[in-house]
Amino acid sequence: MRVVIEPTAELYRLAARRIAAALAAKPDCVLGLATGRTMLPLYDELARLHATERLSFARVTAFLLDEYVGVAPDQAGSFSRFVREQLVARTDLPADAVHRPDVTARELGTAARAYEAALRASGGIDLQLLGLGVNAHLGFNEPGSSLASRTRVKTLSEETLAANGSALPAVVRERRLAITMGLGTILDARACLCIATGGAKAGAVAATVEGPLTASAPASVLQLHPEASVFVDEAAAAGLVRRRYYVEAEARERALERGARPESVS
Ligand code: GLP
Repeated sequence: MRVVIEPTAELYRLAARRIAAALAAKPDCVLGLATGRTMLPLYDELARLHATERLSFARVTAFLLDEYVGVAPDQAGSFSRFVREQLVARTDLPADAVHRPDVTARELGTAARAYEAALRASGGIDLQLLGLGVNAHLGFNEPGSSLASRTRVKTLSEETLAANGSALPAVVRERRLAITMGLGTILDARACLCIATGGAKAGAVAATVEGPLTASAPASVLQLHPEASVFVDEAAAAGLVRRRYYVEAEARERALERGARPESVS
């Protein structure tokens, strides 16, 4: 797991550069898109790169990580509207290239399986963006989720309802359900980029990076992924015991990436 610790603004610049590099390597790549407050500065930065450096999403296919059950695609508070406003409206990502699970279907289980099948048919996710819940959930894989789970319906925890706050559509408060990619689905992505900022996420970050692999901290499943990066700002890194090591290791890896000879990196 690559742990990147930087001041907040620099963290987002680096994360956006990481995505730009993935797009440069594969312009028709498949992106898994996350939502939430954490993603807002990232999408701002991607929109800026689109405007100033012609970063193009024209050939990208995107899949939402999760969505609330019962919400219409254009409904305020829905994740599809979030992505449309934050990314589609500000870049050249085509609206019809963004897929979301059919959360208004009568048969939600069938809809979840169909979403997983569509994901597979696309060739699979090249880069999955992830935020972190305060309870270390990924997507809506709440604590207790199977580490091998696939896309399915999940019940939202009280913590998640509280954290996601007043902007929640009434139907979400009533039904408390979402369709989310499973933890096994997320592990199938070729690379994962998880971002966490702010002191409220410090415990979740520590559990993700240094805690035991456990369904009680679903994001700890990223420890099993060979290409997972966790980007955290100083406040979110506060609970990391090996913080110094990650900073040193990252500096050395970046020097190697810049082409420095291994023996000269110190
Ligand atoms: C929601 C989403 C998660 C997201 C989390 C964090 O619960 N399902 O995918 O990571 O919120 O949200 P925020 O970034 O607002 O803290």
